[in-house]
Amino acid sequence: MVRKPFIAGNWKMNMDLQSSIDLASGIAHGLGASEACEVAVCPPSVYLAAVVKAVAGNPVGVGAQNCYFERDGAFTGELSASMVSNIGCQYVILGHSERRSIFGESDADVNKKVFAALEAGLTPIVCVGELLEEREAGRTLDVIRTQFEGSLAGLSSDQMQHCVIAYEPVWAIGTGKVATPDQAEEVHASIRGLLTSSFDQATAESVRIQYGGSVKPDNASELLSQPNIDGALVGGASLKTDSFLAIVKAAN
Ligand code: 13P
Repeated sequence: MVRKPFIAGNWKMNMDLQSSIDLASGIAHGLGASEACEVAVCPPSVYLAAVVKAVAGNPVGVGAQNCYFERDGAFTGELSASMVSNIGCQYVILGHSERRSIFGESDADVNKKVFAALEAGLTPIVCVGELLEEREAGRTLDVIRTQFEGSLAGLSSDQMQHCVIAYEPVWAIGTGKVATPDQAEEVHASIRGLLTSSFDQATAESVRIQYGGSVKPDNASELLSQPNIDGALVGGASLKTDSFLAIVKAAN
């Protein structure tokens, strides 16, 4: 099965209203009519609606960077998955390492959010990744397995096929220290194996696994040419039209 490459920009807590609109329209207008890859931008939540409007009619999806798992109620400061979907988003990033490490999100929290996102019709981009000390201790694949099993517990094969996984080694995020194509491919292949053992072959062949962590225009092609790397979740380089479009081009 051919998996369509998927490049998403995680803007994190950056930009203001006007620069968000400008960046989103710049990306929308810079894309060719027949891009071979799927493209999405994930701005801060207060700019989601404006960005949805800015890319309307263009092949650019919009995603939130997080959502809560409850449907509605007294959860001050939170956004439900249905709210994210209701304003025109298609995706939500879940379990990003910054959510896990700074805001204490557990695999069990991420799991509940995945179900909420699927129920709202969103495509969850579920992030996993090891810390530097875990890699140095030779525990990378164990850590990934634990996060995978905890975050994706209880999904049917059909639900799993509606998810995207992002492998983001924490030591590569925002550091300029990108994983080598071999390092990344080893983990992606093991995630593909987990998809086969926990779900089935068809699911393993169809789920896209993005790499994230210091992806730049000059390292994107080599990473994306690995057999199990199906796209990228881009942080810093997604904040400029030119660098983001260059990464999209590398995927095409
Ligand atoms: P950088 O591309 O800035 O390393 O960020 C990666 C990331 O965390 C995307 O979610």
